[in-house]
Amino acid sequence: AQDCQDEIRQVLLSQEEIRERIAELAREIERDYAGKVPLLVGVLKGAVMVVSDLARELRMPLEMDWMAVSSYGSGTESTGVVRILKDLDTDLSGRDVLIVEDIIDSGLTLTWLTQNLASRGAASVEVCTLLRKPERLKTNLAVRYIGFDVPNEFVVGYGLDYDERYRNLRDVVVLHPAVFGADDVDPNGPVEPARKVLTPGLPDA
Ligand code: PRP
Ligand code: MN
Ligand code: MG
Repeated sequence: AQDCQDEIRQVLLSQEEIRERIAELAREIERDYAGKVPLLVGVLKGAVMVVSDLARELRMPLEMDWMAVSSYGSGTESTGVVRILKDLDTDLSGRDVLIVEDIIDSGLTLTWLTQNLASRGAASVEVCTLLRKPERLKTNLAVRYIGFDVPNEFVVGYGLDYDERYRNLRDVVVLHPAVFGADDVDPNGPVEPARKVLTPGLPDA
């Protein structure tokens, strides 16, 4: 169908759950950056929806800029070696940088990126990601703001793609294995739910 219903195995996070969580993260960011003007750095292309919704949720002065990076290596596995395809237009000296991502998978892209941006003289560099796949993490990068931990499934939507498609879905969904050619895999049962990740040092109150 045109709305991809046949290709979706399960909705992992509805647009309403995403909206609510981004609002919660925005309240934390407003408090942490009070009196400052953070620079939100969106990592193209996956982060466009998160930046767009987070920025409009934030009731504070801020700036936005964008980077496009590509990790060297074959296939879909990132290697940790990153090439800048589009750099920032903004001078980072003294700036409070908040890198915004849709998902942390191995964590290698962000480990490289936080070090790279910190080396440009930023006053601070923090990370906000909507999703994290804990089973895939290969680094112990400190991530300040995390929306949800998600199971090790192929998730798309809300900026996340499979072969550049599905970024425009409003929900984060798990695709049917048949969509990416694994016709033999017959998933039984529901996928594990996404779990909200509390920001360190913040009671859930
Ligand atoms: C995806 C995702 C993150 C990165 C995470 O981007 O949007 O940016 O991979 O992977 P890592 O934690 O293993 O480094 P992708 O390279 O697919 O580009 P896209 O955002 O344009 O889809
Ligand atoms: Mn990306
Ligand atoms: Mg991608």
